[in-house]
Amino acid sequence: MASTSKISSFKLQCCMFLVLIGAATAQLSSNFYSSSCPNALSTIQSAVQAAVKNESRMGASLLRLHFHDCFVNGCDASILLDDTANFTGEKTAGPNANSVRGYDVIDTIKSQVENVCAGVVSCADILAVAARDSVVALGGQSWTVQLGRRDSTTASQSAANVNVPAPTLNLSQLITFFSNKGFTTQELVALSGAHTLGQARCTSFRTRIYNETNINSTLATSLQANCPSNGGDNNLSPLDKTSPTTFDNAYFTLLLSQEGLLHSDQQLFSGNGGTTDSQVSSYSSSSSTFFTDFANAMVKMGNMSVLTGTSGEIRTNCRKTN
Ligand code: HEM
Ligand SMILES: *[C@@H]1O[C@H](CO)[C@@H](O)[C@H](O)[C@H]1NC(C)=O
Ligand SMILES: *[C@@H]1O[C@H](CO)[C@@H](O)[C@H](O)[C@H]1NC(C)=O
Ligand SMILES: *[C@@H]1O[C@H](CO)[C@@H](O)[C@H](O)[C@H]1NC(C)=O
Ligand SMILES: *[C@@H]1O[C@H](CO)[C@@H](O)[C@H](O)[C@H]1NC(C)=O
Ligand SMILES: *[C@@H]1O[C@H](CO)[C@@H](O)[C@H](O)[C@H]1NC(C)=O
Ligand SMILES: *[C@@H]1O[C@H](CO)[C@@H](O)[C@H](O)[C@H]1NC(C)=O
Repeated sequence: MASTSKISSFKLQCCMFLVLIGAATAQLSSNFYSSSCPNALSTIQSAVQAAVKNESRMGASLLRLHFHDCFVNGCDASILLDDTANFTGEKTAGPNANSVRGYDVIDTIKSQVENVCAGVVSCADILAVAARDSVVALGGQSWTVQLGRRDSTTASQSAANVNVPAPTLNLSQLITFFSNKGFTTQELVALSGAHTLGQARCTSFRTRIYNETNINSTLATSLQANCPSNGGDNNLSPLDKTSPTTFDNAYFTLLLSQEGLLHSDQQLFSGNGGTTDSQVSSYSSSSSTFFTDFANAMVKMGNMSVLTGTSGEIRTNCRKTN
C-alpha cells in the first residue's frame, strides 16, 4: 500500500514537471486532442467532405482562409472575428472583403465540434484541419496537421491590409514578401500551387488580360468575354482553367504556356531563365514532387506565430471572443 502511494506520488510529480515544461515551451503536436476530443478530426473531416460535395469551390475557399489567417499575425483565427459597432476586424480588409468566403462552413464545423466536446477545439485548429481536408477531398495528398493552436482575442484590419500578398507583385517582390514571412523561394512556388483550385474576380486580373504581354493571347481574348474593361468586377474565372476543382499540378503546366490568370502567378515562370522557372517546370512534370513540397510548406505555414499554452482562448463561437 505504502509503495503504491509512493509510485503515485512519483507519477504525479513527474507529470506536473512535464506540464510545467509543456507550458514553458508549448509546441503544437499531432495528438493534441487524442484524449480531450478523440472525435475532433473525424468530425471536421466529415463536415468538410459534406461542404465540398455541396459546392466544390468550397475546398478552395477553406484552403485560402487558413492562408489569410496565418499570414496576418499568425494562425490564430483572427480572420474569423466579425466586425462590431466598436471593433473593426480583418473580414473587411482589402484582401478579404468581398473575396474570402467559407465563414458559414466554419460555423457549421465549429458547432458540430462543440457538440462532441464543448470548449476544447480552437477555431484556429479547425481552419488548419479544414485546409488539409479540403485538399484531400479534391484529390491532393494528405499531411499530418499539428494541433494545439489557441484563438486570438483580437484582430487587426491594418495588419490584414499589408500582410497578404497582392496579385500585382512582381517576382522579386513575391520572393521578398515570402522571405519576410520566413519562407524560401522554393516554398513560395510550392504554396502558390494552391491556385490549382478556386476562382478569382475580374478585378484581380483585369489589367493582366488587357495590358500585359506575357499572357497567352487566346486565353486573354477568351477571358475578356466575361471580364469587361469596365464593370463586371465580381465576375469569376478559374485560377486553373484545366481542373479548377481538382488538386493537381495543372496550375504549373498552364504557367509554361503563359496561361497564369493572375499577374503574380505568371511571375513564377518567364521562359527566359527566371529564377523560379526550373521549379515550375519540375512541378509541371512531377505532381508527386509538388505534392510533397506543398504538404511540407503547409505544415510550416500552419506553425506561424501560433498561440499555445495559456495564451489566447478557445472561442466557443468563432465569430466573437468569449
Ligand atoms: C503567392 C502569393 C499569392 C497571391 C498574390 C495570391 C492572390 C490571390 C488572389 C488575388 C485571389 C483571387 C481573389 C479574388 O479575386 O477574390 C486568390 C485566390 C485564391 N488563393 Fe491566393 N494568392 C497567393 C498565395 C496563395 C496561397 C499561399 C494560398 C494557399 C496556400 C492561396 C490560396 C488561394 C485559393 C485557394 C484561392 C481561390 C479561393 C476561392 O475560390 O474561394 N493563395 N489568391
Ligand atoms: C450549398 O452550396 C450553396 C451554393 O452553391 C449554398 O448557397 C448553400 O448554402 C450550401 N448548402 C449547405 C448546406 O452548405
Ligand atoms: C463593445 O461593444 C460590445 C457590444 O457590442 C460591448 O459588450 C463591449 O463592452 C464594448 N467594448 C468596448 C471596449 O467598448
Ligand atoms: C519589381 O517591382 C519593384 C517595385 O515596383 C521595382 O522596383 C522592381 O524594379 C521590379 N522588378 C522587376 C524585375 O521588374
Ligand atoms: C491599360 O493601359 C492603359 C494605358 O496605360 C490604361 O489607360 C488602361 O486603363 C489600362 N487598362 C486596364 C484594364 O488596366
Ligand atoms: C496558348 O494556349 C494554347 C492553349 O493552351 C496553346 O496551345 C498555345 O501553345 C499557347 N501559346 C503560347 C504562345 O504559349
Ligand atoms: C514550429 O515553430 C516552433 C517554434 O517557433 C519551432 O520550434 C518548430 O520547429 C516549428 N515546426 C515546424 C514544423 O516548422
